[in-house]
Amino acid sequence: MEELTGCLKHKQDENEEDSSLKAIVAQEDPAFYSDAAAYWDSVPATVNGMLGGFAHLNLADISGSDTFLRSVFKMKNPPGHGRAVDCGAGIGRITKHLLQKHFGKVDLVEQCQNFLDRAKENFKGSKKIGEFLCQGLQHFSPRPNTYDVVWCQWVLGHLTDADLEDFFRRMAYGLKPCGVIVVKENVTSSGKVELDEEDSSVTRPERQLLDIIERAELKILKNTKQPNFPKSLYEVNILCLKPKKKSILS
Ligand SMILES: C[S@@+](CC[C@H](N)C(=O)[O-])C[C@H]1O[C@@H](n2cnc3c(N)ncnc32)[C@H](O)[C@@H]1O
Repeated sequence: MEELTGCLKHKQDENEEDSSLKAIVAQEDPAFYSDAAAYWDSVPATVNGMLGGFAHLNLADISGSDTFLRSVFKMKNPPGHGRAVDCGAGIGRITKHLLQKHFGKVDLVEQCQNFLDRAKENFKGSKKIGEFLCQGLQHFSPRPNTYDVVWCQWVLGHLTDADLEDFFRRMAYGLKPCGVIVVKENVTSSGKVELDEEDSSVTRPERQLLDIIERAELKILKNTKQPNFPKSLYEVNILCLKPKKKSILS
């Protein structure tokens, strides 16, 4: 099977010492975003394209997310089932197999027009889909008090650390009073941030992701691992977050 770089990824060789430094330097360069956009423009608008050549893991991914989301709905003061947003939605794989089953409306935010066009075709006539927003997440600013769940999967490595912190703060503002942010992302086991020069993204160690979450004044309600993925791939954390401070709107 053709293997693309993308979300599901093989772990890097831990002896690649300068990857961590390169990852820090890369985030200072405006090309960090333009290179990623150019990379994704070259990727087929298919499930296999979204999953970096690992389409056979789609079911395991969705099943892990479904179990997680159901556990979120069982929490004390759970989010509602009204409206979710799929951040870095690609062709709408997660919306199709997961989010539209749990929410009355789902908005999609995606920077690649080609992927959004495919999503529009796939969801033609569906009453479950709200807005298709062609935008980088570094610019996405939801209206206040809008979302029950903000779903971010395999995209946050495309934001610099500083932009990720700001993104989390804006998402917190866009949540309804019991709303939550779900993050599903690869983490390194080397303890270091690793750069993927092909798709222009970083994979962070869990500690670094948690530090950014802390700086954005979010609290962690759940933090688990995606089960049943091959050991050769990066581990995937699934987190449920909510703002530490009560919104002035709630
Ligand atoms: C690995 S794919 C995952 C797509 C989808 N989340 C899924 O799991 O099926 C990464 C997606 O993030 C999008 N992306 C990359 N950088 C982005 C950015 N700065 N803002 C929004 N989306 C971005 C890509 O265009 C691509 O659709």
